[in-house]
Amino acid sequence: PTLTMFVDQLPIPPAIHLTNATLSVGAFKINQKLHRDLPPTTLYAYGQTISDAMYPAATLEARRNQPAHVYYTNNIAGPHILPIDRTIHWANPLHGGVPIVTHLHGAEVQSYSDGHPDAWFTQNGDHGPTYTTQNYTYPNAQNPTMLWYHDHVVGITRLNVLAGLAGLYMLRSDQDQCLTDLFPYGQFEIPIVLKDLQFWSNGSINFPNIGDSPATHPQWCPEYFGDTIVVNGKAWPTLTVHPRCYRFRFLNGANARFFNISMSNPRLSFTKIATDGGYLPPGQSQVVKSLMIAPAERVDVIIDFKNLTPGSVVYFNNSAPAPFPGGGFNPPQTNSVMQIKVAAWPSGTTNFGNSSTDVMRCVNQASSGYFPSRDFNGSLHRYLTLQEFDDANGSPIVSLLGNKTWNDPVTELPRVNSTEVWEMINLTPDAHPIHTHLIHFQVLNQQPFDTTGFSAGTCNITIPFGQSGTCFTGPPIAPAIYQTGLKDTAIVWPGNVTRYGMTFRSASGGPFVFDPTTEPGYVWHCHILDHEDNDMMRPYKVLPAV
Ligand code: C2O
Ligand code: CU
Repeated sequence: PTLTMFVDQLPIPPAIHLTNATLSVGAFKINQKLHRDLPPTTLYAYGQTISDAMYPAATLEARRNQPAHVYYTNNIAGPHILPIDRTIHWANPLHGGVPIVTHLHGAEVQSYSDGHPDAWFTQNGDHGPTYTTQNYTYPNAQNPTMLWYHDHVVGITRLNVLAGLAGLYMLRSDQDQCLTDLFPYGQFEIPIVLKDLQFWSNGSINFPNIGDSPATHPQWCPEYFGDTIVVNGKAWPTLTVHPRCYRFRFLNGANARFFNISMSNPRLSFTKIATDGGYLPPGQSQVVKSLMIAPAERVDVIIDFKNLTPGSVVYFNNSAPAPFPGGGFNPPQTNSVMQIKVAAWPSGTTNFGNSSTDVMRCVNQASSGYFPSRDFNGSLHRYLTLQEFDDANGSPIVSLLGNKTWNDPVTELPRVNSTEVWEMINLTPDAHPIHTHLIHFQVLNQQPFDTTGFSAGTCNITIPFGQSGTCFTGPPIAPAIYQTGLKDTAIVWPGNVTRYGMTFRSASGGPFVFDPTTEPGYVWHCHILDHEDNDMMRPYKVLPAV
């Protein structure tokens, strides 16, 4: 269906403040209108009850150092609203139903509360091999930042997240209270959850039911791309602002689409103050014209509309090719994201909001937190390859990390308090947003190399550029602006080795609420969900300090 752009108001998910009491969060099957002219879409969504379940789910508001408790329930009967591919490893519950398990993305958390892919459970009481509980504890001891919760069940994460099982989680503290006061949530702090979908004219999600290589995988496709951009649950919405500063907190919640967001008015810029793992260090806010955001990444920015005349209109546009960076699925409407209309202050308004000095004072205060060292000299290096293989039918269908699959034994066993450098060696033609659970890392650098020589074994990746036998074709390059800061997901470019500086303790400098003997352990994976499901995901465990 052709949908008129900018006719629906941008929805703001309601906020739920977490307290000492356990919050019950259920997964439900619902119908929700995603555009004025589209019949309601059947979705899966989180809510306290079926009547408040929605996509995106309520924003959970947490306070630093106040642990929160969530009891997750599954109220979804089968069959799945989207086609399941039974040839890839998946939960396959004995009594049917739709398995779910919820991960709080970016959380420093004990692994039984991490939403391990095999810790799934169904409405019928079936559960996966690493299931122990539906009562999760979030310590909230880490840096204040925006996290998100989403489904993580083995083999059908792409289906459950596409169907709507996702919501935001704001962790705030005294450190950023000034910003929180200046930009109240939903009024001057605007969450932006990006996603792309494709619809049938009856409103249901159009998801391919024939795979890329059906002889091997009847349904699985390497990437899902929609032709409709959905922001906070509405296709191409519109937002009205007044002439002052606003804070926008972006999440790319898409399965596979990257977004490179820019504004139609060249006078406007984004002042980027925080990324996945927290605020940028003091004085290191970045004034940029575009925001490159891969699936699962978050970017926290301030935009000043003060000098725009009431009546002006600004567009958020997207210029990222899909797949990234090669392109091929960019219907022109996917270059439009949403509209912002600047309206005069209501008459009688006396407080016209913040001044830029207020904003800078609050940003400085927020960024004053601990920031981990960038010194990774002497750290253990792990060499981890990202690969795609052709099956017997010649289709590129299987993606592996480190030449291993999900079911192979754990090979990454860092120790608590240690630092390591994970060298992500991308042998594929695509960029992959590689995500690590539990910890935040820093991208140290990236370096172009000869993928053919590496694969043929005719050169070596441990030999520095310039020396004979090296695979490198150039010196290390500083991280791109969108790879800086504390990250839990970063873009690993094709033809490059991207080095992650990993610190296996809290990025907040405070206590690490984490038990190294805990089961079932953690995972790291590509956050293109179609890749994660087959088979770009690996378990990892953290061992006690020596
Ligand atoms: Cu956002 Cu392992 O996931
Ligand atoms: Cu990938």
